[in-house]
Amino acid sequence: MLTLLQSSQCNDGRTWNSMDGKTKTEKAILRLDDQEIELPIFTGSEGEKAIDISSLRKQSGYITLDPGYVNTGMTKSSICFIDGEEGILRYRGYPIEQLAANSNFVETSYLLIHGELPTPEQYEQFRQSLRRHSMIHEDMRHFFDGFPSSAHPMAILSAMVLGLSTFYTENENPEQDTDIDLTVCRLLSKVRTLASFSFKKSIGQPFIYPDNSLSYCGNFLHMMFRVPAEPYHVDPEVERALNLLLILHADHEQNCSTATVRMAGSALTNLYACIAAGITSLWGSRHGGANQAVLDQLATIHEGDWDVARYIELVKDKNSSVRLMGFGHRVYKNYDPRAKIIKEACDRLLDHLGVQDPLLDIARRLEEVALNDSYFVDRNLYPNVDFYSGIMYRAIGIPINMFTVMFALGRLPGWIAHWLEMRSDPDDRIHRPRQIYNGVKLRDYPV
Ligand code: SDX
Repeated sequence: MLTLLQSSQCNDGRTWNSMDGKTKTEKAILRLDDQEIELPIFTGSEGEKAIDISSLRKQSGYITLDPGYVNTGMTKSSICFIDGEEGILRYRGYPIEQLAANSNFVETSYLLIHGELPTPEQYEQFRQSLRRHSMIHEDMRHFFDGFPSSAHPMAILSAMVLGLSTFYTENENPEQDTDIDLTVCRLLSKVRTLASFSFKKSIGQPFIYPDNSLSYCGNFLHMMFRVPAEPYHVDPEVERALNLLLILHADHEQNCSTATVRMAGSALTNLYACIAAGITSLWGSRHGGANQAVLDQLATIHEGDWDVARYIELVKDKNSSVRLMGFGHRVYKNYDPRAKIIKEACDRLLDHLGVQDPLLDIARRLEEVALNDSYFVDRNLYPNVDFYSGIMYRAIGIPINMFTVMFALGRLPGWIAHWLEMRSDPDDRIHRPRQIYNGVKLRDYPV
């Protein structure tokens, strides 16, 4: 049985000064068999509480079991705060709504990585550094020749990011205090180039080199959509929409791919390799791959001329194994604030481009039917970041198999920020979860 001792607000998360001036620790008492085990309570800066079980096994021989880590915090972090019940998301304390309305992706990346918004001088220096590192080593171009044109861009991106570590070995041993800022700028700038080259590869067009006179997002659009035979002008509205999408994807606390980057980094793996691991984790349809799965699902409904209400019934049927992609979230039990922002931006962008997308109408109808259906309401299933983002990518001209690559481009500063935070954490050690064995007991090999 677990009893939470009386406590008052702690200042450093573990202790507080009681009336008699003595320092006290908020504690949980776990009564196991004939034992009473005291476990400290940690309180975060937004009042979240956690039972610190780091001494549990030593005191009791017990471990905890929590498939999918639904109830388990893997670390303390000051990068991103989410209140899933209230639908709140903040990067370093700034509400996502304010960053979406006022910032750009380069500034938001700086904020996530360095913890504060940059001064004008810091911003300019960061921006110039990203521009300076936009090219990839010329030998890397030949790597693309080895991939089949049908290769999924996420496979190419992960392989090429790992390949960067063979050309830039300054960070190979993270324990050597090398110029990590250089590695950070190389990654932020070159992953954008690799992403656009993987797109060009998939459509058989020549690679377009960066044009460093353009902004971060303008340069990406240039590399994606320019062809040598024609001039290309960046549409400011599309550039604004891309900045917004990348800001909204930039971080999300301990999501699956960020936890993967931290897990790999805890073994003292270099940053390039950890980012490659994060890309592979993001690819899954339960995670970043959902934005591609949403468009596939909308296209199935459209091409099959499904009645939306009938499709929702299929989703609710446990025997169908069909999920409403872009709906539900492990943390948000309310509307994902990013989905709200994207839904509004979708209208603006499609109006600007004069695009009438029937899939957007289907998405809206699905949301309307689902949010009035007890199956979804009872399970707190709302649209998440992936539900509308693909409609915007499609309107920009980004093909469906590049949607998760766009997610990776956005999430890159968040992955980097978490890797750096973990590397600077004095408490960090190799992440090695335990298990409970429930297999065959001891037996002898038949001789
Ligand atoms: C991202 O973690 C992050 O922060 C991720 C992310 C980020 O920014 O990094 O926000 C990005 O990955 C967003 C999520 C994208 N994935 C999808 O849209 C795929 C569809 N959604 C799900 O598969 C699901 O909702 C998850 C994976 C997102 C969350 O899974 P959980 O928390 O493990 O929830 P669950 O699978 O235990 O579901 C609980 C119940 C189940 O029903 P019951 O068994 O209780 O009857 O809800 C049902 C599920 O069947 N359910 C759904 C559903 N999602 C959950 N039913 C229909 N459609 C869905 N989408």
